[in-house]
Amino acid sequence: MKALDIVDVSIGYGEIKAVKGVSLYIEQGEIVTLVGNNGAGKTTIMRAVSGLIKPSAGRISYCGKDVVRMNNQEIVRAGIQMVPEGRQVFPMMSVLENLEMGAFTRSRQEACETLDMVIGLFPRLKERLHQLAGTLSGGEQQMLAIGRALMARPTLLLLDEPSLGLSPILVETIFGLIKQINETGTTVFLVEQNARMALLVSNRGYVLETGSIVASGTSEDLLNSEHVKNAYLGVGQD
Ligand SMILES: Nc1ncnc2c1ncn2[C@@H]1O[C@H](COP(=O)(O)OP(=O)(O)OP(=O)(O)O)[C@@H](O)[C@H]1O
Ligand SMILES: [Mg+2]
Repeated sequence: MKALDIVDVSIGYGEIKAVKGVSLYIEQGEIVTLVGNNGAGKTTIMRAVSGLIKPSAGRISYCGKDVVRMNNQEIVRAGIQMVPEGRQVFPMMSVLENLEMGAFTRSRQEACETLDMVIGLFPRLKERLHQLAGTLSGGEQQMLAIGRALMARPTLLLLDEPSLGLSPILVETIFGLIKQINETGTTVFLVEQNARMALLVSNRGYVLETGSIVASGTSEDLLNSEHVKNAYLGVGQD
């Protein structure tokens, strides 16, 4: 069953047409990656799914509900959470307070149960619950940003460049966590420039170039496609 369905969506910023007639879908339980270079329109698509920007044309639905007509809060209640680019934690709040902020739509008891689940997933955060978020390392801040999104118990998690700026070891950790989160039943929409790692954990992928989808398929197909290899996987990389 299609969970997220984006049909012929166009999005502009004034005169700039950032996204031009994009269609893509994500089935319940999948991990789907959107690959593309800087400025291709990846973040713009994610912002539209989470209601931060409205498309000028096309439809976006989630579990049959029209996302374009919902406000932010309604989209969160429908089960969608985005972890934006650049891990935006609240630096002057503790790790625990940041996590609690993520659960604002839930009851106290649900929040407690979810907190146990989230800190179980991120042992590094468990050791640092009372540390100010601004003093965490980059990788820890990324974990906190993901953890905070999980506190709302999303059914669809949007991750915008989760591996950006992380060391190779932490990149592995983050992708491992994404797989773990998915195995608990959360559908994942991943935006990445690290195409190889992202496709390796995904079921399917789409390639976005200057606002249009130019290729799509199973991750295996994309990893083997000459175009993807040349443009996104880099010659001689492994
Ligand atoms: N607020 C804005 N105002 C005007 N133009 C914008 C705005 N945000 C994005 N754009 C433009 O829209 C296009 C798509 O941007 P977007 O951020 O979606 O790309 P991206 O694929 O996420 O790139 P990156 O990999 O660098 O994050 C770019 O040309 C960008 O300059
Ligand atoms: Mg972006």
